[in-house]
Amino acid sequence: MLTFPDGFVWGAATSSYQVEGAWQEDGKGPHIWDAYTLIPAKVCDGSTGQVSCDHYHHLEEDVALMKAMGLRAYRFSICWPRILPKGTGEVNERGLAFYDRLISLLLDNGIEPCPTLYHWEMPLALEMGYGGWLHPDSPAWFADYARVCFERFGDRVRTWVTINEPEAHSMCGYRWGVHAPGRVAHGNTEPWLVGHHLLQAHARTARLYREEFQGAGGGRIGMAVSVHWAQPRTDSRADREAAQTCLEFNFGWFGHPTVYGEYPESMRALLRDKQPRFTADERALLKGSADFLGLNHYHTHQVWAPTGAERESPFVERQLFAETEEFGEPRSVMGWVFLPWGMTKMLTWLHETYPGVPIYVMENGYPLARASKAESLDDQPRVEHYRTYLAACHEAMAAGADVRGFFAWTLMDNFEWGLGYSVNLGLHHVDFATGERTPKASARFYRQVIAQNGV
Ligand code: BGC
Repeated sequence: MLTFPDGFVWGAATSSYQVEGAWQEDGKGPHIWDAYTLIPAKVCDGSTGQVSCDHYHHLEEDVALMKAMGLRAYRFSICWPRILPKGTGEVNERGLAFYDRLISLLLDNGIEPCPTLYHWEMPLALEMGYGGWLHPDSPAWFADYARVCFERFGDRVRTWVTINEPEAHSMCGYRWGVHAPGRVAHGNTEPWLVGHHLLQAHARTARLYREEFQGAGGGRIGMAVSVHWAQPRTDSRADREAAQTCLEFNFGWFGHPTVYGEYPESMRALLRDKQPRFTADERALLKGSADFLGLNHYHTHQVWAPTGAERESPFVERQLFAETEEFGEPRSVMGWVFLPWGMTKMLTWLHETYPGVPIYVMENGYPLARASKAESLDDQPRVEHYRTYLAACHEAMAAGADVRGFFAWTLMDNFEWGLGYSVNLGLHHVDFATGERTPKASARFYRQVIAQNGV
């Protein structure tokens, strides 16, 4: 058995739009995903998160599921327009009351609440009125919203995540158009501008937290950034450099500024005026603004130095690296290639690139296609996934990576963005017609891992 350190944080994660439902209840305002899912063909099965798991009305039951697994921590997200229906200004007390109840229930059951302030739900009023994250005031709006959350929950929450997967939000939302707000026209510039504002939102919020709320209680604040491992196609120097650049454009885009105060050199050299620059004050604010690195890691890509026609890509960074998901086996229903050694290499890279900054695996999991309930409950490939990926984490830790916790994605089947309900990643099966929750084989496996603090 591979034993984890005492106090290792065993958690599971969800996000508000994916599980809550209650999309028009108790004064909540609309956000970009509420609107985006109404556009025909944006979600493959035509579904929405309007009801989803209806977590909003199943809090007691869902916390009981967590307790039954022995979870130490629950990572959820707070829906911005549930708290501030228009994004700024008037505060919705009933929205605050919902998260109050959730946090109290968690604490009563010995589970640490780990809220994420932003998992992609820009209030629609700010999007339609001002362009959302494209607007230079967006970092200030965000910090004002964060203040409301800190004031209300700061006495009971010790781990805050500001923003979930800023790179996925920027790229999928502002280049590929496959996530809200679905923009595509300026894919060579808008993602970098949005990323710039997301970073400033994080930095302002971290300063606010540290100056006014962190206190002596040892609270911490960071971001959750997703990155696949970039495996060089050959051992040539060019391919190895391409893979390194790929990691810098994915994790480093957010990791470097929050640790070192500046974008990676590779980005600055290539993007030039396509990416805004930080002022000296902004650099100072960003530097050291993350108490931990949140890693969302699922899969491994193969990467190489582009030659010939590959360099013709309309996206500038493609001059530096090309990548494919289609290498190796087994490949999951989402096309991802799961190679546990990619996790070991990923954690080692983080440890070497950002020495001294603790790491939390904030998301990791395995998708399966929608199937009958009986088939879904016996999710052996997911059990195998967790077994091997946790062993891979252990290997990186044994070699020095300072990993403090692991959050399984996800607590229960839910709305998987553009894939709707066609795939599932849950430890619990959800019958979306009745709301019934049932633990899968993977939930039992994870319970055992937690109980023995090892795999
Ligand atoms: C996101 C989750 C998502 C998961 C699986 C991450 O990109 O943070 O919201 O459900 O991956 O695709």
